[in-house]
Amino acid sequence: MTASSTTASAGVANGQPAARLWSSRFAFILAATGSAVGLGNIWKFPYITGENGGGAFVLVYLFCIALIGLPIMMGEVLIGRRGHHNPINSMRSLALSDGRSSRWQGLGWMGVIASFIILSFYSVIGGWAVSYVGSSASGAFVGADADQVGGIFGNLLASPGDLLLWHTVFMAMVIVVVARGVRAGLEKAVTLLMPALFVLLLLMVGYAMTTDHFGAGVDFLFTPDFSKLTTEGILTAMGHAFFTLSLGMGVMMAYGSYLPREVSIVKVSIAVSFMDTLVALLAGLAIFPIVFATGLEPGAGPGLIFQTLPLAFGQMTGGAFFGTLFFVLLVFAAWTSAISLLEPLVSWLEEHKDVNRLASTLGAGFMVWLLGIASILSLNLWSDFHPLGMFTMFEGKTIFDLLDFFTANVMLPLGGLLVALFVGWGMKRASVESELGMESSVAFSLWYGLVRYVTPLGVLVVFVYNLA
Ligand code: TRP
Repeated sequence: MTASSTTASAGVANGQPAARLWSSRFAFILAATGSAVGLGNIWKFPYITGENGGGAFVLVYLFCIALIGLPIMMGEVLIGRRGHHNPINSMRSLALSDGRSSRWQGLGWMGVIASFIILSFYSVIGGWAVSYVGSSASGAFVGADADQVGGIFGNLLASPGDLLLWHTVFMAMVIVVVARGVRAGLEKAVTLLMPALFVLLLLMVGYAMTTDHFGAGVDFLFTPDFSKLTTEGILTAMGHAFFTLSLGMGVMMAYGSYLPREVSIVKVSIAVSFMDTLVALLAGLAIFPIVFATGLEPGAGPGLIFQTLPLAFGQMTGGAFFGTLFFVLLVFAAWTSAISLLEPLVSWLEEHKDVNRLASTLGAGFMVWLLGIASILSLNLWSDFHPLGMFTMFEGKTIFDLLDFFTANVMLPLGGLLVALFVGWGMKRASVESELGMESSVAFSLWYGLVRYVTPLGVLVVFVYNLA
């Protein structure tokens, strides 16, 4: 028996007790934006843009968000709200009520498992960000040269003890929020953190404007040079559109299940996709001018934020202060995403196993923390351990790399594909139309065409290419 079906009608909307619903449309937008805006926007987007040559890549990315990401987000939110349960039960009940096989709940399962795995290494990187707040505030980067900055990063990665400490701190921050529930925990945290994040980001952009390389940063992001665009770049852009919008993992289903009936799914999804994109672009505008101003290269890869940027801050006036602010910003972004990654599993434990919120969160959080240790050790003691090394494709991949690969390149696109197929072909058209509240409009036909044909095809291409 599930929590919502045992609750009497008083104070219940949407089949959920009020404390399990967002208090307003705005609260949902903040929470879903909090989920979407994370390491993906501030750490990954700038470095993959840097690696793929800038403007043309950004343009492709924008297309992917609009044509693939946004339609799937609408699909996920609609599944969650219509099913009004955790992702697994929502998928099951919707499949059955529209005359489909209960096996569709496998999509919910995959989401819960994948978000659990993603969180295990996401938290390790979140921990790096927490530790960098301290390093930056203590002035460790001031006047440091490339070797010294590289040394700080290298020492962190080489030390299982330090990594474990920061991973533990980060997971504790996540657990504290999630344990308090939807309204008192998630909603309260995003209401404080998201506005703070925007203010910090604008401050950072303002700071970047004071360098005389702001124009170069703008050019790099917005002047497309198609000769720099590769097939691989296009696929990276598409894969990243999923990751950055938190799609394919049941997260938006879980958040959608707390969305009050009267709110328009179309409007909130557009708002969230827009904000997420805005933050990614602003992060680029904050980071590239600073990198260029100190004569550094934008294509440094994953080390862009943790090596190139601290080096740049260390050479600038006000760099220690703004560098610290930057890492606080990164922590806030990662934190609100991490709570969304824990939510699907917690909501399932809570509803399905009838365990209370606190116990569910502690149990789920502990398991995530434990799995995170495998990623930590992959960076040092187990760095030569390549469990699937017998396959050429996985040669040299550590456990951390494998978890990242299977979630980001396999489970995420597969989840997105199945969401598109389920809302486009599995559910009855009438159910979908009424849940979106856009009966027989042109916009509906447009969206329906996208989720039925364009999105599945697009995802399939990425999928096959990534595996081949
Ligand atoms: N979107 C977040 C980011 O950009 C990460 C994230 C949170 C995520 N929840 C997710 C990714 C669910 C995939 C699925 O950092």
